[in-house]
Amino acid sequence: MYSKAVDFIKSKITVQPRIGLILGSGLGGVSERIEEPQALDYKDIPGFLSSTAPGHEGRLIFGRLSGKPVVCMQGRFHLYEGYDVKDIVFPIRVMKLLGVETLIITNAAGGINTDYNVGDLMIVGDHINFMGENPLVGANEQAFGTRFPDMSKAYDPALRELVKEAVDGVDIRLREGVYLACKGPSYETPAEIRAFRIWGADAVGMSTVPEVIAAVHCGVKVLALSLITNMAAGVLDKPLSEQEVIEIGSKKSGELQKLIRNLVELL
Ligand code: HPA
Repeated sequence: MYSKAVDFIKSKITVQPRIGLILGSGLGGVSERIEEPQALDYKDIPGFLSSTAPGHEGRLIFGRLSGKPVVCMQGRFHLYEGYDVKDIVFPIRVMKLLGVETLIITNAAGGINTDYNVGDLMIVGDHINFMGENPLVGANEQAFGTRFPDMSKAYDPALRELVKEAVDGVDIRLREGVYLACKGPSYETPAEIRAFRIWGADAVGMSTVPEVIAAVHCGVKVLALSLITNMAAGVLDKPLSEQEVIEIGSKKSGELQKLIRNLVELL
C-alpha cells in the first residue's frame, strides 16, 4: 500500500526530500516560500485521504526551502473529520520511505497555561494523548519500527534547542510546554481545561499527536510548534471560535514562516 504511493510520487517528482513539514490551520503560508515547487493533490496519490477542514488545502508540495529539499503537507487530516487514525498517519510513513529524516509540525492550539498569551509560539516538549486512539494499534508494521516504541524523547531535544537560535530576528514569543490532544471537534469545557492544567498541560489542540507517534515509531525526528491562537475554554470570559483561530493564524503566519525558514537553514 505504501509502495504504491511512493512509486506514484517518485514517478512525478524529482526532489528527494529530507525534511517534512505539516502545516496547521491557517498556517500553510510557508509552503508558498518553497522554491521550484512541484505539487500533487492528495486526491491523486494512492492511499491518501482528502482534507475537509477549513484552512487546509490538501496538497503535497515538494521543492526547496532555505536550500534544503523538503516535502510539505499543505493541510492535514484530523480524527474529528471521522477518519481512521491509521489513514491519518499514512503520509508520515510515505515521507519516511521518500527519505525524510526530520519532521516539522505546526498546529493551532488553545493556551491552558495562564502565563501564555494569544500569539505566543510553544515548542512542544512533550504531549499527553487524550484522543483515546493510537495509530500503532493493531498488527505492528515491523518494517517501520518496534512494537512498543519509547516515547520518552518524542520531541527531539536538539531540534527544540535549534528553534531558540532560529527565533533570532523573528517577532514571536517562544514558550516550551506540554501539548494535550483531544479528538474534538467540540472545543473543551472549562472543567476539562482545569483538569488538564492540573495534569501539566500547557496547550490543547486536535492534531499532531497521531503524526508524532507514527514518526517516532519509524525513526523520524520530530519538532512540533503550537501557535496559541486563543486561550483555552474558561480562561477568559468569552466563547471560543474557529474564526479567532484562523485570524490569529494568518496574523502570525509571516513570523512563523520566517522562523521555519531560519530553522530549516540550520538543519
Ligand atoms: N482547543 C482545541 N483545539 C484548538 C484550540 C482549542 O482551544 N484552539 C485551536 N485549536
